[in-house]
Amino acid sequence: MLDLVNEPKEKIIIGNDVFVPFLTEKQIQSRIKELAEEITKDYQTTVPIFIGVLNGSFIFMSDLIKSVDLDCEIDFFKLSSYGDAKISSGKVTLLKELNCDVDGRDIIIVEDIVDSGLSVKYIEELFAEQNPKSMKVVTLLRKPKSLKYNIKIDYIGFDIPSKFVVGYGLDYAQKYRNLRSIYVLSEETEK
Ligand code: IMP
Ligand code: MG
Repeated sequence: MLDLVNEPKEKIIIGNDVFVPFLTEKQIQSRIKELAEEITKDYQTTVPIFIGVLNGSFIFMSDLIKSVDLDCEIDFFKLSSYGDAKISSGKVTLLKELNCDVDGRDIIIVEDIVDSGLSVKYIEELFAEQNPKSMKVVTLLRKPKSLKYNIKIDYIGFDIPSKFVVGYGLDYAQKYRNLRSIYVLSEETEK
């Protein structure tokens, strides 16, 4: 049983995998405030729509928009995930569509993590067809060494090594999203 009150934990053991603390709640929250300030400055003359990519981005989206000092709207859509694996299937499909009309609007795609960049590339192509006035991408995390697609990310919380992470919205087999901080897969394995 996870004891959230006692976070941060020294380690989390999932099967043979050991996850250790990586980004604290404080580090995450202070970086989000900086990102929100930047976004606030950049969207002074418009009402942007923040579009979250489910499931991973829901916590980041929530904290980010609370620190954005602007009139804004939000919506979510859902892409296929990794399933229960730690490695991408290399395929993306749309599982839940967007409800809002983005034609002529300034949209900001909100991602939890950019790994190969395939999801963001898919999203950009999907929305480009719907004629938004502008489209930017904000991600909490990016693994620059894993990038395989030529995509531009406009706001980046943290560049991190190409290792699997959990917590703060990010899951492993759908679990651990509710942790307030982020943990990384360590070299150590549980015997
Ligand atoms: P990409 O399409 O390869 O850029 O992968 C992006 C998606 O994969 C993210 O939105 C996450 O849902 C998932 N993902 C990538 N790396 C991790 C990770 O380290 N932990 C949890 N999910 C991840
Ligand atoms: Mg995701």
